[in-house]
Amino acid sequence: MTQQLKMDEVQPRLLDETGQGVLTTPLDRPEGPLKVTGTAPYAAEPSLPGMAIGVLVGATITRGRAHVDAGSLRDMPGVLGVYTAGMARNPAQGTANAAPVQPEGFVQYHGQPVAVVVAETFEQARDAAIAIRVTYDPEPGAEVDPETASHVDGDPETFGSFDKAFSEAPVRIDATYTTKGHSSAAMEPHAALAAWKDGRLMLRASLQMLKYNRNEIADAVGVDPDKVRVLAPYVGGGFGSKLGIAQEAIAAALAARELGRPVRVVMTRQQVFEMTLRRTETRQRMRLATDRDGHIVALGHEDRVSNLPDEVFSEPVTMATHFLYAGANRRYHHEIARINRPGAGSVRAPGEAVGMLALECAMDELAEAAGLDPIELRLRNIPDEHPETGQTYSARSLAACLKRGAERFGWSARRAPGERREGEWFIGMGVATAARTNSLGESQSRVTLNPDGTALVETDMTDIGTGTYAILGQIAAEMLGLPRDKVTVALGDTDFPPAAGSGGSWGASSSGSSVFLGAKAVRNALAEKLGCPPDELRLQDGIATGGNKRSAIADLLDAPISEVGHIKPGETAETHSSASYGAHFCEVAVNAVTGEVRVRRALGVMAAGRILNEKTAASQVHGGIIWGIGAALTEALEHEPRDGRVVNRDLAEYHVPVNLDVPDVEVEFIEERDDHANPIQSKGIGELGISGAGAAVTNAIYNACGVRVRDYPALPDRIFPHLP
Ligand code: MOS
Repeated sequence: MTQQLKMDEVQPRLLDETGQGVLTTPLDRPEGPLKVTGTAPYAAEPSLPGMAIGVLVGATITRGRAHVDAGSLRDMPGVLGVYTAGMARNPAQGTANAAPVQPEGFVQYHGQPVAVVVAETFEQARDAAIAIRVTYDPEPGAEVDPETASHVDGDPETFGSFDKAFSEAPVRIDATYTTKGHSSAAMEPHAALAAWKDGRLMLRASLQMLKYNRNEIADAVGVDPDKVRVLAPYVGGGFGSKLGIAQEAIAAALAARELGRPVRVVMTRQQVFEMTLRRTETRQRMRLATDRDGHIVALGHEDRVSNLPDEVFSEPVTMATHFLYAGANRRYHHEIARINRPGAGSVRAPGEAVGMLALECAMDELAEAAGLDPIELRLRNIPDEHPETGQTYSARSLAACLKRGAERFGWSARRAPGERREGEWFIGMGVATAARTNSLGESQSRVTLNPDGTALVETDMTDIGTGTYAILGQIAAEMLGLPRDKVTVALGDTDFPPAAGSGGSWGASSSGSSVFLGAKAVRNALAEKLGCPPDELRLQDGIATGGNKRSAIADLLDAPISEVGHIKPGETAETHSSASYGAHFCEVAVNAVTGEVRVRRALGVMAAGRILNEKTAASQVHGGIIWGIGAALTEALEHEPRDGRVVNRDLAEYHVPVNLDVPDVEVEFIEERDDHANPIQSKGIGELGISGAGAAVTNAIYNACGVRVRDYPALPDRIFPHLP
């Protein structure tokens, strides 16, 4: 049976009926021991009988045609085949857009896959991939610089009279910020293992959104989706780069079909940088103005991003700017430069992650111009209703986060720029708002309660390191009156009911709501067996009570009860503006001689509805803040100016923060329930921590030494020439 409801139809909400206390508690991840002992089987780890190995070959031109000479490998040992089909298909992005398919052999960025070479062993395949002869017909007209691109799309969008309000305002700032491209740089490289049996494809792959990925791979290899099973039980990080299938999956699937053998394809670390979707670089002009009381009267956010000529996606840089602060007169202009760099796509918090680097730094500049504390400026500009759509806000604890953070961080000790110095270090504090839009995606899961007092949750939802295994088990245990360890969670298999997948921070709330509904249906069946109204049923410690009746749950069951919960978005998705909020605080030391920045302390105070598991939720915020430190101080994709290739294509040259870059990061949650978000009253948290985090760092740099860095990352050479 299926319990299918729209968000608005679900009554009552979670926990009005349970009292286990399994949910919200900071339980460990059940799969943790498997991961730390190396026994969790990631996508390409199983070794299948007869398995061959494929290695991708990347283009060495920027634009044109590639001609792959398979005959050049005639004398190479172990080579089984060379395949070129599907290599001109850009990586997909799950729901975000269809992947443009280019003619076979077409190259539109340096490093794009043009072939996969398959051999008996990895070493043979690698050697052959290096030796293979590829000739090219380069096409003129490749452009690799978004600033000078000849083809730029984009239109302005305005509310009120921005130009008039801005020019007449007594307080205003006009500043331009730039951010570099970023790589998701997940620990597990993109990987796929394909095998065909009786016309059916089994694809193990490192992916985030399986119900979409199944359609994508079916389309790419030309079979019906019901002939495809995708498995992704463990995923070593995705951050958006695994939202959709890419060439490694297509290559493995097509080669396996041709050879009649299983084929494994794993990208090298360099290929991850060259072939997977990057985050765009941005240029952002911020114009903000207030009246004499610090109320924003004009707000302009104009940006330029880039992508390949035919890609539909473009980084929604102004995402948070639309809903975060008040102001009647607003102007946006989003430009997309069409260039031949590796495709740009979703990377953790597409939109907010880079848009708020500019917005929240501009708010700091505006506060100074207005003579206000930056927290006070933000508090004065929290809007009553969405300033553009008029929507009501669902739960929004931004003010509480800012105030609580200020108290805990010791904000009152902050001094004017340059006033705190310890030896050769300037010390300063910065603040920034955190905000990330929240949404609910259609999701299903099957919840089964067994007579032996165990339960099983099955869904094709993924756990990309986020804690899905933990929280779905907690929701089921809470609802069914079971200890957490009596619930098994099975994920990452398209044979299970389809979920929204891991993307856009909607995973926990969406799949969690489906588990809630499935468990609720199981409860209803139990109430019937006990003979009490469903809303009187209590389940605790294996005992069911209700309507003056009492029974061991096991005694009520002679066979398993299995129900599918199915949640769909409802009216509140339209009527309410829903986001998670928070406040970032950061203290830095800036070296007065070298301009080196060290982050000394960081605190995130966050509100994201019900926190399902404090440990996994805090871990998400920790990770997000570390990404913020990276964006602020170290991370930048560098492109060769002539051919656009990624130059710093490994983790030695692309600097993600390492242990010594990251201080003790503290995370605190403000208690909140969001009745308009979903039945479990939770909101997204996977991307909240990064949104705004980097701006708290650069604002702290300014407060330390008086140098305003507007070009991210704040490398020493952007600081020391300007030091006092
Ligand atoms: Mo996310 S960037 O939708 O994984």
